[in-house]
Amino acid sequence: MAETIKVLISEEEIDKRIKELAAEISKAYEGKSLHMICVLKGGVFFMTELSKHMTIPVSIDFMSVSSYGDATVSSGRVKIVKDLDESIEGKDVLIVEDIIDSGRTLSYLLAMLKNRMPASLKLCTLLDKPDRREMEVDVDYTGFKIPDAFVVGYGLDYKQIYRNLPYIGVVEL
Ligand code: IMP
Ligand code: MG
Repeated sequence: MAETIKVLISEEEIDKRIKELAAEISKAYEGKSLHMICVLKGGVFFMTELSKHMTIPVSIDFMSVSSYGDATVSSGRVKIVKDLDESIEGKDVLIVEDIIDSGRTLSYLLAMLKNRMPASLKLCTLLDKPDRREMEVDVDYTGFKIPDAFVVGYGLDYKQIYRNLPYIGVVEL
């Protein structure tokens, strides 16, 4: 492997922050149940860990999307590769993502899911790269804001590897 990985956010820091987020979200939805939607594949490590620390009833579902055509000239449209198994109508829904970068994927996804009439629709992301934003996205819960660098681990990949790293690292090529 040619690249080396420099730790940006340690496993301990991530664990601590996820517990804080779970407590905050559980409190915000007290007396309700929450339907958590994971955007595959990157969101899966974060969602499973976050859901384990929730103190309200939680259900989960998964969705997989990909950008149309060449990502560098993306129209912002995304193709649904795998849709949700269950209807979200009338449910309190939280989308759980690994990272918000340009914001294209999430702004499209939020608009699409809003049309399905959930009772509420919020967004939680482990990482946010605000400097890279091209389309405005309302992020309700953020784990960490990070500078503009390509990161891997905790679900995030470089050429499909490194998703399993228990920390967030920067790829040095
Ligand atoms: P966006 O539509 O530009 O906000 O980007 C969405 C997707 O790009 C994320 O869900 C990731 O899959 C991928 N992505 C963006 N930045 C990174 C990164 O630093 N490392 C790995 N994947 C990334
Ligand atoms: Mg993603």
